[in-house]
Amino acid sequence: MTKYYAEPFKIKMVEPIKMLTREERIEKIKEANYNVFGLKSDDVYIDLLTDSGTGAMSDKQWAGIMVGDEAYSGSRSYRNLIKSAQDIFDYEYFQPVHQGRAAEKVVMPIFLEKGKVAISNMHFDTTRAHVELAGARAVDCVIREALDTVNYHPFKGNMDNERLEKLIEEYGAENVGMIIITVTNNSAGGQPVSMENIKKTSEIAKSYNIPVCIDAARYAENAYFIKKREAGYEDKSIKEIAKEMFSYADIFTMSAKKDAIINMGGLIGVKNDAEIFETVKARTIPLEGFISYGGLAGRDIEAMAIGLQEGTDFDYLQYRVGQIEYLAAKLDEAGIAFQSPAGGHALFIDAKKMLPQVPYYEFPAQTLALELYIEAGIRSCDIGSYMMGNNPDTGEQIESEFEFTRLAVPRRVYTQSHLDVIVEALKAIKERASDLKGYKVTWEPAILRHFTAKLMPLE
Ligand code: F0G
Repeated sequence: MTKYYAEPFKIKMVEPIKMLTREERIEKIKEANYNVFGLKSDDVYIDLLTDSGTGAMSDKQWAGIMVGDEAYSGSRSYRNLIKSAQDIFDYEYFQPVHQGRAAEKVVMPIFLEKGKVAISNMHFDTTRAHVELAGARAVDCVIREALDTVNYHPFKGNMDNERLEKLIEEYGAENVGMIIITVTNNSAGGQPVSMENIKKTSEIAKSYNIPVCIDAARYAENAYFIKKREAGYEDKSIKEIAKEMFSYADIFTMSAKKDAIINMGGLIGVKNDAEIFETVKARTIPLEGFISYGGLAGRDIEAMAIGLQEGTDFDYLQYRVGQIEYLAAKLDEAGIAFQSPAGGHALFIDAKKMLPQVPYYEFPAQTLALELYIEAGIRSCDIGSYMMGNNPDTGEQIESEFEFTRLAVPRRVYTQSHLDVIVEALKAIKERASDLKGYKVTWEPAILRHFTAKLMPLE
């Protein structure tokens, strides 16, 4: 029997959902131009498009919404946020912003410009976009083990530190604007990064005088994995682990829509460099708003202050990551391959293995995502060649190292029965997988194409 950690909460409010008929779903996905982002959420039964901003807030967070202080400057909610963040990250300076990509928009141009590169264990797509918008280039440097979806490795999100040093030598340290450690490594499958690895990356960066930035969207899930899998951390609290993780970086950008369990919000942290923080503030005011609200309402900031604390609760994290592990165990029994071991926020189905007849330029992971919608009204998304898009220099389709269909699980939203529906749908698709054909793009924008591109099924 697969262990399911029962919810450490009870349900106080519900939102009805409904399943359309198969014929209706076929019609809806066609109307959406075979792009899951084009679907109306009302037409989705189980929404696994993202774990970002889709979590259920607690009664305490909703109570916080009511007492949020909407003052333009010096608000109480802002002070509560700073206190809460200092307690977890132990940094000197924090700046709220409206979401993760806003943090990237503020921070990236401080360190990057034309001719520079950012090196990361893996850039998330908006991070890559902001590196490129700043005129620089984004280079991924994840360990080779991450590329083998079947082989077990406890920290598949790790930076390949040997290669990192080679890359720094190759580009020249003066051209490496920043090193970004993404925790957990979303694009590699929500895979954690070990403390040892973070520390080593930080040592290398210091020796070349390159600043380290943590992309902190899922830092608490990463800390949970360190506690469970890394020797010496079994008895440490999530907050103690988080403090050590952040001690190895100089700055962080964070989408608070994940581990801070809020519907909107982001945060920038600067360890102790007052000059950098002055620049962060100076850029935030015109781009996001005054420093004490940073593009958010006071009530959102209050909810973030509370959510940051709730997101570090061990029982919550055990249930949270446990849901993904439950899904993984069920799919394993069914012989369906995924990035193994299971990640923290999502299960990444290996679409290359499920649909070997669909080549990367016909988008196997997108094909599987569309099939999941047709099968059971489940919305997932492609993290593969379709998402990667075209090389900005040559215009050619990039071949992604992975073809993942991502099942991202919102926090505190779905129950064990919903997870069972997902498993049954994937089993049914596996039965007819060899009949499935890929898709082609009929229209695409220049950047971040997967959100708006139009597709057509291949005959
Ligand atoms: N960094 C990582 C690792 C992310 O996963 C995301 C967002 C961002 C930055 C940007 O944050 O959305 O608040 O602007 N990831 C979401 C996802 C969208 O579905 O994985 P944002």
